[in-house]
Amino acid sequence: MPAHPRLLLGHARPHLRILATGGLLALTGDAAGLAVPLMARHAIEAFAEHRSAAVALLLLTAVVVAGAALTATGTYLMSRTGEAVVLGARERLVHRMLRLRVAAVDRLTPGDLLTRATGDTTLLRTVLSRSLVESATGALTLVATVVLMGVMDPVLLGVTLLVLALVTAALALVMPRIRRAQTAAQEAVGEMGSALDRALQAFRTVKANGAEEREEEAVALAARRAYGKGLSVARWTSVSDVAMQMSVQIAFLAVLGVGGARVASGALDLSALIAFLLYLFYLVGPLGQLTDGWTGLNSGLAALARLAEIEDLPGETTARPASRGPRKDRKTRRRARTPVDVAFKDVTFRYDGDRAAAHDSVSFHAPPGGLTALVGPSGAGKSTVFALLERFYDHDAGTVTVGGRDIRDWPLGELRAALGYVEQDAPVLAGTLRDNLLYAARDATEADLADVVRRTRLGDLVARLPEGLDTTVGHRGVLLSGGERQRVAIARALLRRPRLLLLDEATAHLDAVNEQHLRDVVRDLAPRTTVLVIAHRLSTVVDADRIVVLDGGRVRAQGTHAQLVERDPLYGELAATQLVAATTR
Ligand SMILES: Nc1ncnc2c1ncn2[C@@H]1O[C@H](COP(=O)(O)OP(=O)(O)OP(=O)(O)O)[C@@H](O)[C@H]1O
Ligand SMILES: [Mg+2]
Repeated sequence: MPAHPRLLLGHARPHLRILATGGLLALTGDAAGLAVPLMARHAIEAFAEHRSAAVALLLLTAVVVAGAALTATGTYLMSRTGEAVVLGARERLVHRMLRLRVAAVDRLTPGDLLTRATGDTTLLRTVLSRSLVESATGALTLVATVVLMGVMDPVLLGVTLLVLALVTAALALVMPRIRRAQTAAQEAVGEMGSALDRALQAFRTVKANGAEEREEEAVALAARRAYGKGLSVARWTSVSDVAMQMSVQIAFLAVLGVGGARVASGALDLSALIAFLLYLFYLVGPLGQLTDGWTGLNSGLAALARLAEIEDLPGETTARPASRGPRKDRKTRRRARTPVDVAFKDVTFRYDGDRAAAHDSVSFHAPPGGLTALVGPSGAGKSTVFALLERFYDHDAGTVTVGGRDIRDWPLGELRAALGYVEQDAPVLAGTLRDNLLYAARDATEADLADVVRRTRLGDLVARLPEGLDTTVGHRGVLLSGGERQRVAIARALLRRPRLLLLDEATAHLDAVNEQHLRDVVRDLAPRTTVLVIAHRLSTVVDADRIVVLDGGRVRAQGTHAQLVERDPLYGELAATQLVAATTR
């Protein structure tokens, strides 16, 4: 996976000032530490010459305390930046994710998206709060220390550098392994998220099919892969840590040997040798920072690459929030009283290049107001009509107009605001019943709400629930029955007062009495709103002003029920066998 240093900079840019300040403070704190051996040397010399070392020791203490305070402040500032970057990255990612094209999300797994938004963004924290600054301060301190050591005694420095060069070569070999293992570990965590999500999304299906063990195995497999990769990271990290520490020990022995000889020959003061050795141990800090920083930077870059993959997916560029402020919203809603017509003209559409066409030259017209029904066998392309109208997908050829205007010319938010869509599987969101109903019309009044509840026969349900409209309905509305979920979805769409209502009739769910009422609601609505309904019930098509028969992505026939029964054999068969007739009234 390619790293994205430019992207990293993009995330860091808004915080560069604070980051630099924090880094500088921490660096100054570290630099104060550098003065310690020098002062120690003075103190030792003072002792040797039987002078008072009090001033030197006091100064030493002051420098240590000040350095610690500076380092603490700097570290805090950098950590704060890390948190801010994580927040920024999350906000940006969520903003982006919710505005991706439906077609792009079709190919992703929600679990993997989830781990990217939560896990991968967390890795950024380490990169910016620690790794970046750590590498920089580590490198600077290292250079400063080496320079000071050079000033003290070039020969001993030569010995030290020789040892360090060997270690650097060893580290260069280890680093790529750490990066690869870390990338793989993050991918494995993403897979684990996907596998767990798959099982939880179909929790009842898993149980009904006794598939707990199989699903568990799939999740555990990914978890074990993450574990294995985590172990590789730990192994290589400990190798690099030990190599680094060993090198300092070896350098110590070498410097002690060479330095001792030089002190004996009188070429070097003992105090200089001690100061040099102190510097040598001081090197452990910056060296550790450098290796840590590199490791963190590598894992952060891998995470960034995973975030960038989402950013690079196609988004709905014209998407705007359906309402921008209440005033504009009200204006739109006043206009929204008039029904719009819908026309498909030679529309061709494929979900995927290598799939059969879902629509093959589809043409029909649904006049404003009134009820137009779409019928056809399963997979005929009925729901696809709605998906194209909502612009979840863009058709490949032909034109689709709503209210006489090409849907590609409608601002996306305005187009969707004009439509009310009741999906085939009627999703209900976690939250209260009220939240769900008001989802599409935040400013609906209590009276609107009561009216819609009455019309969709939700009154009994609301009366039965312990907290009425404020009862929570569970994840995806699981605490409601299928039919109740569907009526909630219909009520939600009605509250939106759409100019065009798209109703993907569920094949089951509504009992005869409720169906009768729903029919009345729809008939009631038809003069004020264009209703386009995907019909699975005889009663719906009998009521329709016009019926469009789809088969295999083509329009077979159009007309009224009576006309079609006579003219179209497929329709006759559908009407006789597939459309559900209400059994009781
Ligand atoms: N998101 C998608 N990606 C790829 N192909 C799809 C997608 N959605 C539907 N299809 C395919 O497009 C064709 C038409 O699907 P569509 O959902 O419009 O059928 P339908 O008429 O609504 O059927 P049903 O009555 O069963 O709901 C089907 O062959 C289906 O497999
Ligand atoms: Mg469908």
